[in-house]
Amino acid sequence: MPTPQLFETEDGSHSLFSDLYKVSYHSKYGAVQETAHVFIDAGLNFQRQRLDSIAVLEVGFGSGLNALMTLQAAQKWNLKILYHTIESNPISPPVANQLNYTDILDVSYLQDTFIQMHSLAENKTHQLSDQFQFCKWIGKLEEFKTTELFDVIYFDAFAPDSQPELWTEAVFQSLYDCLKPQGVLVTYCAKGVVKRTLKSVGFEIDAIPGPLGKREMTRAKKN
Ligand SMILES: C[S@@+](CC[C@H](N)C(=O)[O-])C[C@H]1O[C@@H](n2cnc3c(N)ncnc32)[C@H](O)[C@@H]1O
Repeated sequence: MPTPQLFETEDGSHSLFSDLYKVSYHSKYGAVQETAHVFIDAGLNFQRQRLDSIAVLEVGFGSGLNALMTLQAAQKWNLKILYHTIESNPISPPVANQLNYTDILDVSYLQDTFIQMHSLAENKTHQLSDQFQFCKWIGKLEEFKTTELFDVIYFDAFAPDSQPELWTEAVFQSLYDCLKPQGVLVTYCAKGVVKRTLKSVGFEIDAIPGPLGKREMTRAKKN
């Protein structure tokens, strides 16, 4: 796989541009602000109102930013997190080491843990801190199998125009099936067709304000 190109987004945090999919991993308006809004606030913080132990499934580990910010939130909010993530084309630890996330987030003490997330053996659960268990599955979402049930899914695939095969009824049905009751799937995407497909497999849709540069995002609930 060609190495993705690093660039700086408007909030000063880095992102990567995929030559394979011709798209960037985050919003050009800010990688950190996007993750904080879409995944941490609308997903994790939403579930924190009723839970103090949360199982997260991430689709698209990518740069590791969502995982790092979830670890940071776990420490700040004293939450227990089981974090499972799926990635088909992992970046190398040396590329991860060039990303400025632990500096920007003011958690430079987590740099080693951040690099560990990129380099640890896959498909094994690792205890990365008292509160944070981490398991990375390398492979395609379409082939992912699990016996775990999750409270939150961070659906962070590339957009439907770049990867239509990941925004299908079959994929959403399998994600619906691995959520607990009252579990939610959050995504930056608010396209009508995506919301209709999520609805068709049983999700209840909340269209909520989006991150900078986007009017809306989607939180889909299993009731
Ligand atoms: C938008 S980026 C994810 C950004 C990431 N969550 C972060 O915090 O940096 C999408 C990711 O999905 C991965 N991906 C693409 N196709 C996939 C598939 N079929 N199954 C799993 N991951 C896939 C890409 O390699 C890329 O890393």
